[in-house]
Amino acid sequence: MALQIEHRSELRLIGNSHVTRALDDEIDLAARSDARVLITGETGVGKDLIARLIHQRSTRRVAPLATVNCAGLTDTLIESELFGHTRGSFTDAYRDKPGILESAPNGTVFLDEVGEMSPRMQGSLLRFLETGEIQRVGATRAMTRANVMIIAATNRDLHAAVAAGTFRQDLFYRLDVIHIILPPLRERREDIPALLEHFLDYYARHHRTGPRAWSQDAIDLLSAFDWPGNVRQLRNAVERMVLRSAGPRVERSDIPDDLRPGGMSGRPSMAGATGTPGPAEARDLLRRMLDAGESFWSTVYGPFMSRDLRRDELKAILKEGLERTGGNYRLVVRLFNMPDDDYKRFLSFLRTYGCHLPYRTFRMEAGSGRSMRVA
Ligand SMILES: Nc1ncnc2c1ncn2[C@@H]1O[C@H](COP(=O)(O)OP(=O)(O)OP(=O)(O)O)[C@@H](O)[C@H]1O
Ligand SMILES: [Mg+2]
Repeated sequence: MALQIEHRSELRLIGNSHVTRALDDEIDLAARSDARVLITGETGVGKDLIARLIHQRSTRRVAPLATVNCAGLTDTLIESELFGHTRGSFTDAYRDKPGILESAPNGTVFLDEVGEMSPRMQGSLLRFLETGEIQRVGATRAMTRANVMIIAATNRDLHAAVAAGTFRQDLFYRLDVIHIILPPLRERREDIPALLEHFLDYYARHHRTGPRAWSQDAIDLLSAFDWPGNVRQLRNAVERMVLRSAGPRVERSDIPDDLRPGGMSGRPSMAGATGTPGPAEARDLLRRMLDAGESFWSTVYGPFMSRDLRRDELKAILKEGLERTGGNYRLVVRLFNMPDDDYKRFLSFLRTYGCHLPYRTFRMEAGSGRSMRVA
C-alpha cells in the first residue's frame, strides 16, 4: 500500500545559504496559502522534507499528511490508492474501500514522483484537480468531493517532459501554482558545514559512539565534493564516518577517497560506495526490529517509501526474516513487530513493489535446521 500517514513532529530545515533561507519563506507562504505546490529537484535534495514542513506549518497539521508514491505502481493501484474502489472492481477488490483523497479530509496529500504517472493516470488526476470530485474505481459516478491540499514532487524536469509530450501541459499548470525548486547541494555549498554538524551530532547521539567534531580540513574537503546524491548521500556518509572514525574529531585523513573532489563525483549511480545505505544499514534496521521491538512500518516501510532504502536492501531484510522463520510470512509479520492483522497489507505491499520472495526456498532451508521459531 502506498499510503503513509505522518505524525512526526521534529522536522528541521538545516542550512545557512541564501537559497535555504529563502526556502524557509517559501515554505511559510505555501503553508499559509493552501494553494497547490510543486516541488522539483534532484534525488536527495529534500523534496520530501519540504512537503512535510509545509503540512506541519499549515492549519492542516491537525489532519493527516498522506503520501502516494506514484512510481512503480500500476495504474489500477494508484487509482485505487487515490480514489478508492468499489467491491469487485478488480481481482483483489473484496470490499468497498475509500482512497486517500477521502481518508485525509482537511489534510494534505503528497503525490511523490508525479512525473512517473502514465498518461491515463495523468488524465484521472487532472479530472480530479479540475472538479474536486472523487470517483472510486468501479463506481458509475462521482461520490464525494475532497478538501485536501495537494503537494506534488518529482525529480524529473517537467518542462522537458511537457515539451517531449510525456507529461500533460494542462496537468502541469494545475500542479504548478507555487513552484519550489530545490537546487542540488553542489550549487549551495554554504549549506554543507551546517549539515555536517547537524548529522554528526545526530548520529553520534544515536549510535552513542564516534567523533563529536569535524576538523576544519575535513569540512573544507567535504564542502568541495559534488554530492551527486545530495543531502541523502551526505547524511549516509556522515553516519558511516561516525561509525568508522576512531578519534574524537573527524580528520581529513578519515575521509574516504570517493568523497574527495574528483572521486566518483559526477556519477550518481556510483554513489552507493559511500552515499547510499548498504548492508550495514540493512542490518541495523533488522536489529532495530528484532532487538528493539520497532515495527516494520516505521523502521523499514517509511524509509523505503521515501526512497532512503533501496529495494535490494528491503529484500535482504525480508530474506533474513524468512530464513529465521522457515519461510513463514505470518511469522515474519510477528517477527517484524506488526499486528497479525497486517498480514495482507504486508504481502500486498511487498507484491506491489516487487519485493515478494518465494517462501519455498526458505522452507527447504528450514529442513536443514536453519529456521528459528518466533511465536
Ligand atoms: N535542508 C535539510 N536539512 C536537514 N535534512 C535534510 C535537508 N534536506 C534533506 N534532508 C534530509 O536528507 C534526506 C533526503 O531528503 P528527502 O527524502 O527529502 O529527498 P528527496 O528530494 O525527496 O529525494 P528523492 O527524490 O530521492 O525522493 C532526508 O533524510 C531529509 O530529511
Ligand atoms: Mg522523496
